[in-house]
Amino acid sequence: MQLEPTGSGPTSPLFPAPITVVRMRTALTRRVSPSIGQCELTHLKRQPIDFEVAQSQHERYEQVLEDLGCRVERLGEEPDFPDSVFVEDIAIVLDEFAIITRPGAISRRGERGSVERALRPHRRLEHIQAPAILDGGDVLVVGKDIYVGISSRSNSEAVDQVRAIVTDYGYNVGEVNVGGCLHLKSAVTALTGDTVIINPDWVVADHFPGRTCIQVDPSEPNAANVLRVGDTILFAAAFPRTGDRLAAAGFEVRPVDASELAKAEGALTCCSLLFDSAAV
Ligand code: GLY
Repeated sequence: MQLEPTGSGPTSPLFPAPITVVRMRTALTRRVSPSIGQCELTHLKRQPIDFEVAQSQHERYEQVLEDLGCRVERLGEEPDFPDSVFVEDIAIVLDEFAIITRPGAISRRGERGSVERALRPHRRLEHIQAPAILDGGDVLVVGKDIYVGISSRSNSEAVDQVRAIVTDYGYNVGEVNVGGCLHLKSAVTALTGDTVIINPDWVVADHFPGRTCIQVDPSEPNAANVLRVGDTILFAAAFPRTGDRLAAAGFEVRPVDASELAKAEGALTCCSLLFDSAAV
């Protein structure tokens, strides 16, 4: 694991030995629920999900995160919550605080308690309140810009609440219409602070002025959900043409097989909450 020193105490002999504070990247994940076969589906037809294959793909995903220097903090499985492996939807974790969402699917609201408990040691918590609905999959953070997708899971009231929470911390919040897919991050994710990967059929590139927009291969509409970990871009192994595009653009890429989880309408970003935290 890579630990980056961020500061130290005074070194004069008049003072006690300094405590070295290091920051490490945490990946909060949750085991696949044995009830994943009853997951919410919005744009996909239901097909059987092999629990053991889903579980082993998810374990491999966690292993890749560890290989890339993350400390994986894994929550226990939630048999009563079929979609609970998709922890991303339950919180937005910023450097200064975390926002606990109010998921658009009623079946997912019970996932919040355990995620709250896991985040509390790391961040002060804010909460989205009714009538707002918000899934973390609809929130794309690029530097100080926060794009919130308006979808079947997230509404304008949520945009207003997010704006009210973050404005004093220097963030800009914009509302983005999404069509044809579940979440904003099904359609666009960040590659760097100034480059995104996008499916222009599902979200209009005009929302990202001043940023380079790399398009998915047209034969791979679901390929825009990639996960950046350090300097590496994880992409779904099912979308090799888009992976080739990213490699040709100079990115260090790594395929991850998430095909069984994709049957539950989840993708790579959905399966973790990544954030920096202090360790002493
Ligand atoms: N099955 C993922 C979701 O609908 O939240």
